[in-house]
Amino acid sequence: MKHLPSALVLALIVSSGTVASSEDDGPKLVVYNAQHEQLLEEIAPKFEEETGIEVELRHGSDSEMAAQLIQEGDASPADVFLTENTPAMSAVEQEGLFAPLDTAATDPIPAEYRPASGRWTGFVARSTVLVYNPDLVSEDELPESIMDLTEPQWAGKVSFSPTGADFQAIVAAVLDLEGEDATREWLAGLQANGTVYDGNNVVLESVNSGEIATGIEYHYYWYRDQAESGDNSDDSELHFFGDKDPGAFISISGAGVLKNAEHPDEAQQFVAYLTSEKGQQALADSYALEYPLNPAVSLDPPVKPFSELEPPTVAISDLDNDKVVEMLSDAGFVL
Ligand SMILES: [Fe+2]
Repeated sequence: MKHLPSALVLALIVSSGTVASSEDDGPKLVVYNAQHEQLLEEIAPKFEEETGIEVELRHGSDSEMAAQLIQEGDASPADVFLTENTPAMSAVEQEGLFAPLDTAATDPIPAEYRPASGRWTGFVARSTVLVYNPDLVSEDELPESIMDLTEPQWAGKVSFSPTGADFQAIVAAVLDLEGEDATREWLAGLQANGTVYDGNNVVLESVNSGEIATGIEYHYYWYRDQAESGDNSDDSELHFFGDKDPGAFISISGAGVLKNAEHPDEAQQFVAYLTSEKGQQALADSYALEYPLNPAVSLDPPVKPFSELEPPTVAISDLDNDKVVEMLSDAGFVL
């Protein structure tokens, strides 16, 4: 300090004084949230109430926030990172930015929904579905596999939102399960047959209104609309592929604590809350209708039970979004 100019010394004293007084009110946990904004705005206050720890949510998309964390590196103000899908978690893990999670955070979640490294965990799951308009496609015409949507009879009858992290995670699962050649072929077929919309709610609305026959997305868009009003879902139905098809892929939302977190203990507590029975019940009771991963908690009907989804086995930490983005752009999708 003695070599610093006096004005700077004064500035440091002033700023550390500010920090000291805010610390009197307790630490403020900084959460980079790429899960749905509405969900965390609902869950974080419950954690605050439970623990007295204040939470500051900063929102963004999976890829934006992962890139920001990687760019900020050790200087990031983030304590916790939450995503919609796993590829962004893997990207941050590969940069060595996560601390090992406490077992209190990981133990409640079955091993297949978190990486063996123990550096992050899944906390909710979402099932891939094909939403369809029964006036345009009858039940017996529905495809057995998501891979079949490239066949000629589906020309002009399939839609999706390739700019979003959700669809990209589905493609990452197809890549993991079917390999690169088959995935490139599938994407070329979807490019030929498909209609692109900007956002999964637009996919749902377009299928429901009869503008397009089917759409690939996650289950909750339809169930949420049903729970709210049914205005954008009453004229459509969900087709679950099941049978370990790539189209039955379950995407996991991830939670991790940053290695350089300023508030490591509180950050661990936050993730432990998310995976605890109490936190998982709060998630299950929220508007979100995403599947809890703690086996002690489940969603109420009419959501299709998690145990009936028959997903394929995907190594969740292997999902590679960079490769997917490259393949989507090679297939002619504008991202
Ligand atoms: Fe989503």
